[in-house]
Amino acid sequence: MSVTGKNPALTPPQVAKSKGGTPLVCLTAYTTPMAKLVDAHCDVVLVGDSVGMVLHGLPSTLGVTLDMMIMHGQAVRRGLERALMVVDMPFGSYEESREQAFRNAARLMAETGCAAVKLEGGEPMAGTIRFLATRGVPVMGHVGLTPQAVNAFGGYAVQGRGEDSERVARDAAAVAEAGAFAVVLEKVPEPLARRITGEIAAPTIGIGASQACDGQILVVDDMLGAFTDFRPKFVRRYAELGAEAAKAIAAYAADVRARRFPAAEHVFGDMPKAVARGGAA
Ligand code: KIV
Repeated sequence: MSVTGKNPALTPPQVAKSKGGTPLVCLTAYTTPMAKLVDAHCDVVLVGDSVGMVLHGLPSTLGVTLDMMIMHGQAVRRGLERALMVVDMPFGSYEESREQAFRNAARLMAETGCAAVKLEGGEPMAGTIRFLATRGVPVMGHVGLTPQAVNAFGGYAVQGRGEDSERVARDAAAVAEAGAFAVVLEKVPEPLARRITGEIAAPTIGIGASQACDGQILVVDDMLGAFTDFRPKFVRRYAELGAEAAKAIAAYAADVRARRFPAAEHVFGDMPKAVARGGAA
């Protein structure tokens, strides 16, 4: 294990107490350089299982393994000094039993240095959340659209419309009552997000769930425009890094083919004059 870095300044109880205050700023990160960038501005950094789609090109989060989460968690930990680090429990690592969930959550905490884990699911997962929370594992809940259940939902549609709002409200209440220190609400309509935020004691962290939530989270590659396979309606792009990178790579390729790169300043030792001018030696 090679976990380095200082203890995060922000703790799960502090996040829990922040309900109703200044909105919590949360982003994902999967690598050390990105962790350093987001740490300067975020309260919570999530090593999300979205890493599978964003960095590994998987078609969904279902193929993400515990080993992948540990590897990315260790990388992120090295870049954090003040934000609370939360690591996602991947599909299949916690649903089977409370004991399985504890064993794998303990591995994530011991091997990455994270202070909390996140797991998806409402009422059916409440017992597991209570089991973990009462054994030293702070849990962030995640209800509404839970991407690991994409096959059960039949897609990534908004959850909790019309009469279905009661199910999502019950899920959020169950997870909060079980001891989750915060609850992600994904892709739920604004009135429902407002209602849940007013009803549960834990702060709600919205992704596609409106300003009514106690905080916001986005996938960092989405808001930077670095992941461009698709663009969810709830994402605001603060940069177009994908387009910038494509331009830069095209310029590099053109320079190499035209022998404009490397130039004299990139070369060790004297370059023959003709080569330095871009001609034949
Ligand atoms: O995996 C993820 O990135 C998430 C979101 C809440 C951002 O779960």
